[in-house]
Amino acid sequence: MSEMLSLTRAAKLVGATRAELQKHIQRGEMVAYDGMISVENLLACYPDAQLEDTAEARRVAQIKERAFGKRVFERAMPDAEVLAARLTELGKTLAYSEKQVEQFTLLLGRLWDKLAAMEARADAPSRQALAELKTWITREVEVAMEPGFINPLAIKDTVLHIITAQVTVLPSKHDFLVEGHDTLLEAAMRSGIPLNYGCSGGNCGLCKAKVLSGEVKKTRQHDFVISDAEKNQGYVLLCSNTAVSDVVIEAAVANSVQDIPFQQISAHVKAMGHINDDMILLHLQTPRTQRLRFLAGQSASLRVGQSFSAELPIASCPCDDRNVLFHIHRHNGNLFSDYVFEHLKQNETVEIEGPHGEFILHEKSERPFYFFAFDSGFAPIKSLIEHALSLEAENIHLHWIGSAQQNIYLPNIAHAWEDALDNFHYEEHVAGFDLRTVSGKREQALHKLLAQINAADIMLLEGDIYLAGPEAAVNVAEQYFLDKGLPKTRVAVASVK
Ligand code: FES
Repeated sequence: MSEMLSLTRAAKLVGATRAELQKHIQRGEMVAYDGMISVENLLACYPDAQLEDTAEARRVAQIKERAFGKRVFERAMPDAEVLAARLTELGKTLAYSEKQVEQFTLLLGRLWDKLAAMEARADAPSRQALAELKTWITREVEVAMEPGFINPLAIKDTVLHIITAQVTVLPSKHDFLVEGHDTLLEAAMRSGIPLNYGCSGGNCGLCKAKVLSGEVKKTRQHDFVISDAEKNQGYVLLCSNTAVSDVVIEAAVANSVQDIPFQQISAHVKAMGHINDDMILLHLQTPRTQRLRFLAGQSASLRVGQSFSAELPIASCPCDDRNVLFHIHRHNGNLFSDYVFEHLKQNETVEIEGPHGEFILHEKSERPFYFFAFDSGFAPIKSLIEHALSLEAENIHLHWIGSAQQNIYLPNIAHAWEDALDNFHYEEHVAGFDLRTVSGKREQALHKLLAQINAADIMLLEGDIYLAGPEAAVNVAEQYFLDKGLPKTRVAVASVK
């Protein structure tokens, strides 16, 4: 029987996205059995798939690495012990296969002897039939043994099994690959799967999950104690274990903002830099024993100095480990903004509380994602896009509408996504007026701009719309899409000051 592959593994093998493979299945070009597809079927759709990674796969991996701030080589290979365990498994499979080949060779010899004995006793017509059977067997054996008969994808899959392991999460049926030194939790976060966790450091026990099958290995000692009874049932900490073989785990996944607890964390300023005179990029890092758990697109409250606080959208993705980014817009006279622009220093403590808000991605939607960022509304949109990229979303469009050109303050990020990804489309537009005050003629002008964008893209109204920016601008845009007949459930809105 042909080897069966999960969609995640198959996509990795041919350098495609899961969504692309799903389209082949929907069109009937590929057949899926219980979410698995055969190597032959995959090769029939991707006849040019080679042993090496495709350029596309490398490009996607690189953009994701850049987005998540990790170096490729740090993660390329698992540690020596995991590698040894996987090679041992592979060795066992090889030994088993060799034994089977030996048995089949013996069987073939015995079959030949048996045919010869039958031939000696047979009459003329039977001898003729036996001779034809022998000719057919000889030809089939020769064809089967011809060099190059091996499916290149099967070889690539074997190599992939050495450097990665697949994890299936039940009951949600999510799956993801564990690469290099990643723990199960890190790999899940990188793939955009919001498993339960707290500290990421083996202290809180919130990432405890049950291994149903497969082999895992501890990557660090942890302070949280798992009882012997639980150990015997297969419970492990996802933040302190990696996968040696393909594994199936039973673990809770956050499906809504209600599943994320409220948290208070003392972070420190890792870096801050002026993007322009009116905008600071604030990079906070949480302690080693605490991560901020949130869903992409949510906000958090920051408190600095003598309790100057503000609620701000998080401009990074939950997949980015201890790093939490914010875009701080200058508001003269606002105590929080003044403190950040005039006094905040590297390493200073910043209190984070949250997360807040329901501006999150409808992950299960199969419609294209259309993101509209108005001025600094790019912050939550950036978080959503990074998350969509980690989910390998099929079709992502970003329209960044600035009051003026300088309000489109990080175009290089959007251009980098566009350069690296075929499924990402970016356009920027300058409104020519302050998007914080939109009424009368300005409202008409914004309406006209949206109508132009709409006229140039017939798919826009087929998509899910995400709007973030000054309240006045997003209200006009929301009304524009509702008037076009889109239901409220497909127009998500976040007001950003
Ligand atoms: S023990 Fe806290 S997240 Fe794993």
